Amino acid sequence: MKNKLTELLNIEYPIIQGAMQYLSRAELAIAVSNAGGLGTIPAMTFRSPEELREEIQKIKSQTDKPFAVNISMLPEVIINELTMKFVDVIIEEKVPVVETSGRSPEELVPMFKENNIKHIHKVSSIRHAKKAQDLGVDAVTIVGFECGGHPGMDDVSSAILFAKASEELSIPVIGGGGICDGKSFYGAMSLGIDGVVIGTRFLLSEEVATSDIYKEKVLSFNENDTTLILRSLNNAMRVANNKQAKRIHDMEAEKASLKELLPVISGIKTYQAILNGEVDDAQLVVGQDIGRIHSVLPVSTIMEELVAGFKAQHNSMTLYFN
Ligand SMILES: Cc1cc2nc3c(=O)[nH]c(=O)nc-3n(C[C@H](O)[C@H](O)[C@H](O)COP(=O)(O)O)c2cc1C
Repeated sequence: MKNKLTELLNIEYPIIQGAMQYLSRAELAIAVSNAGGLGTIPAMTFRSPEELREEIQKIKSQTDKPFAVNISMLPEVIINELTMKFVDVIIEEKVPVVETSGRSPEELVPMFKENNIKHIHKVSSIRHAKKAQDLGVDAVTIVGFECGGHPGMDDVSSAILFAKASEELSIPVIGGGGICDGKSFYGAMSLGIDGVVIGTRFLLSEEVATSDIYKEKVLSFNENDTTLILRSLNNAMRVANNKQAKRIHDMEAEKASLKELLPVISGIKTYQAILNGEVDDAQLVVGQDIGRIHSVLPVSTIMEELVAGFKAQHNSMTLYFN
């Protein structure tokens, strides 16, 4: 499958595995990249720049295909020192692709350009997508309301954002939210975008290392079982509607501050709960498409189905012209 995104990123299929906090490690990224997509690891979940470097080196030792490192930032005024140290490692290790998210990447754009690192910026609105294009990023990812993770505050669905972004931007557009199989991949691409980012489907892959009970629990959810937390912080996050989500909703209703919420919402605490199988006490980030995912599969099978399902869907459309 060749288009301007596959050419830009030097990948076989326009399929990007979304960063997933502590759950998307080298094993997942290697499997996705080796299968022709773009695997991604999230920088900010490593305890130190050297830990990130080790993970990058692990990826480079097991694939010669491109991969990405995500830098998820908080909507703060300045980019902190630790983030800049992660950026240094990314540059020193000649990581082929970087994805930024969470706040304007303005200060980082020239650094990645000078070092020939392809820069994707992830947003949840057309306004921010245009701003990123004006700043000079190479591509934007736009995620809709149904996505796992941060869908933004506007509650606009993927279908609207994908079509509008592809009409109004000149750089490649990657769409995320609700894409979990060949059919939804085809549907998304037919709205005019150049590629897709997939989180929830890859979360339920064999290459994500968690307790079995966690995956069983997540598989038991349907499309009505997610909710948005952290709206009060202007940083909405789609998670499973479990005990932990209710705890956070209660705190938000009581107008808890960021300082009060932080110990409860900490990602590492959640990851430990996931590993220990205490799934009701963890923020289980999932998209609404969890209702369409029924099994844990190897990444290679997920990728094959995405591509074969895309073609099958395309062929089935010809019936409208007979
Ligand atoms: C478990 C999980 C954790 C995520 N963590 C991050 C993250 O750390 N940084 C980020 O930019 N996006 C994160 N996301 C969002 C994904 O990268 C991707 O944009 C999103 O999952 C796409 O929507 P989908 O879940 O419907 O496929 C996460 C998603 C999931 C499911």
